[in-house]
Amino acid sequence: MSKSLKVLTFLYCLLLASCVSLQTKPYFQKKVAIIAHRGASGYLPEHTLEAIAMAHAFNPDFIEPDLVITKDDQVIVLHDIHLENNTNVEEVFPKRARKDGRWYAVDFTLKEIKKLKVHERTKKGRVVFDERFPINRGSFKVPTFKEFIELIQGLNQSRQKSIGIYPEIKAPVFHQREGKDPLGLVMKILMDYGYNQSGAKIFLQCFDPKLLKEFKKRFPRSPIKLIQLIADNSWGESKHDYEVMRTKEGLKEISLYADGIGPWIPFILNSSLVSDAHDSGLLVHPYTLREKKYYPKLIELGVDGVFTDFPDLLN
Ligand code: G3P
Ligand code: CA
Repeated sequence: MSKSLKVLTFLYCLLLASCVSLQTKPYFQKKVAIIAHRGASGYLPEHTLEAIAMAHAFNPDFIEPDLVITKDDQVIVLHDIHLENNTNVEEVFPKRARKDGRWYAVDFTLKEIKKLKVHERTKKGRVVFDERFPINRGSFKVPTFKEFIELIQGLNQSRQKSIGIYPEIKAPVFHQREGKDPLGLVMKILMDYGYNQSGAKIFLQCFDPKLLKEFKKRFPRSPIKLIQLIADNSWGESKHDYEVMRTKEGLKEISLYADGIGPWIPFILNSSLVSDAHDSGLLVHPYTLREKKYYPKLIELGVDGVFTDFPDLLN
C-alpha cells in the first residue's frame, strides 16, 4: 500500500470512529432548543421584565411568556387568569374579588394592573419555592406582551442575538366566555412586531386544541409553528382528553394541525412518546426542567427542546 493510501485509510478510519463515538453519545447528536420558562424564573419573579432580561443574558433559544387578557383588551404576561398568586392585588384592591374569592385579571384595566407589585409565586398564601427570590423584596410589575417583545427585540439588537419567543395563550375558553378574542389580540401584536413572517423565531403554544385549530382556520397562510401542550386529565377542569393525545392515533391527529407537542416531563419517561411523536413528524418540547441532573435523560430520549426555569444550567 502506498504511503498516501495509508494516510487516506487512516483518516477514513478516524472519521468512522468519530461517527460511531457520536452515535453512542446522544448528547451530541442534535441541538436541543432551550426555552426559558417564564424568563429566568428560577432566579427572579416569573414573567417580570427583570426575569426576561436575565434569561436573555443566558442565551437560550427562546423565552416563554404566558398570556392573559385584561378588561380593556390588553395582552399581559401572566401565568394565571387570577392575580393573587403572584401580586399584592388583595392589598391594593381588597374589594375586587369575585364571589369565589379570586381576583381575575380580566376584571382589571391595564392601568389598574400596573399599580400591582409582582412577587414570587404563592399558592393559598404560601410561597411555592422557598429558596427563590425573597417575597417581600424588590418592586416588580406585570409586563404587557408588547413590553416583553420590545425588551427581547431590543436586547437582540444590542447583544447581537436572535433569541426567539414562545408565547402561550392561556385559558382561551375562559377568555371567550368573558367576551374576549385572545387569539385575535395576540396575533395582532405578533403581526405588528414581525413574527408572522417566515423565518421569524417563534412557536405558539396552547393546551387547548380548539384554539390551535382555530388558528389554522383564521390564519391559514401563517408560518408560525404550533405546539400542542399536553397536560394530565386530572388537572383543572379540562374538557380535552390528553390521554388520547398521547397515543399513536392521538399524535397523528395532532400532526394535522400542529408542529409539535409540549408534554409534561413524566409522560416521556418510561414510554415511547418521544419516538411515537417523531414518527408522526412532531417535535417534542417537554416541560418543565428544574434540575440539571435530569437533562442527560431527556437528551437520551431524543427531545427537540426543553422548557426550564434555569436556562443557564443547560448551556
Ligand atoms: O408552556 C409550557 C409549560 O409552561 C406549560 O405549563 O403551566 O407552566 O404554563 P405552565
Ligand atoms: Ca407556559
